[in-house]
Amino acid sequence: MLQAGDNLDPLLKRPFSILDYDDELLYFLFKKKGKGTIYLSRINKGDVITLLGPLGNGWPAPQGEFIVIAGGIGIVPLMLLLKQHRNKAILFYGAKNENELLMLEEASKLVKEIYISTDDGSKGTRGLITEIFNDFLVSNSSCKDLTIYCCGSPPMLKAFSKLIREHNLSCYASVEEYMACGVGACLGCVVKVINEADSEGFHYKTVCKDGPIFNLKEIIWDQVF
Ligand SMILES: Cc1cc2nc3c(=O)[nH]c(=O)nc-3n(C[C@H](O)[C@H](O)[C@H](O)COP(=O)(O)OP(=O)(O)OC[C@H]3O[C@@H](n4cnc5c(N)ncnc54)[C@H](O)[C@@H]3O)c2cc1C
Ligand code: FES
Repeated sequence: MLQAGDNLDPLLKRPFSILDYDDELLYFLFKKKGKGTIYLSRINKGDVITLLGPLGNGWPAPQGEFIVIAGGIGIVPLMLLLKQHRNKAILFYGAKNENELLMLEEASKLVKEIYISTDDGSKGTRGLITEIFNDFLVSNSSCKDLTIYCCGSPPMLKAFSKLIREHNLSCYASVEEYMACGVGACLGCVVKVINEADSEGFHYKTVCKDGPIFNLKEIIWDQVF
């Protein structure tokens, strides 16, 4: 969680994934969206901001080869995983257009195979990356046994979880939610997760503390909080 404003506006820190690190630095990559990210885009070398973290869980370690599916800025939390397990992943990377395929060159050097798509066809195949992945599965059925690591917009994850259930695939996803405290206290970031032991069949988990990585098959998307 990074301080994303002077004084009290915006008051709340904003959540970001760690893109990379070395002995002295943490690296972030973010997209300008609103007040907080505009503020962060304007800070200069030498300015001081506060940081709370690292928070939440991480990706379970892959065993052998694995599949990575990223939508746009969703590539950020997957870069360290690719770096730590070089040449083991088949990457499916989609975005609205070529300009939104961030870290493409860096990511392509870390993987065994790469499939790219854009909504407007400016790079790779025209279409949604989840559809490209679906077509890939038809001709590569042995890949159904590989674990999938995925991050993208909530609509992308929602659509993808349908496919995961249909093919009974194993998939971990990093989920996005609005956050306030970042430490599991305010319950502002809960998602509904299947829990057979509960009389209602589900319980709530916090994205900031229990997540942000969940077994995608266990998330219940059609919910009104
Ligand atoms: C675990 C986690 C990791 C993240 N990692 C990154 C990252 O590495 N790089 C990056 O660019 N972004 C990342 N995000 C998203 C980032 O936190 C938001 O874009 C940021 O908080 C927006 O703040 P803002 O003040 O600029 O925008 P706001 O003024 O708060 O909102 C601007 C617009 O963005 C939408 N928005 C804001 N927050 C979210 C959210 N969490 N989910 C969906 N829509 C949102 C709002 O609806 C609004 O339309 C991550 C989010 C989470 C939960
Ligand atoms: S942000 Fe407060 S519980 Fe997650």
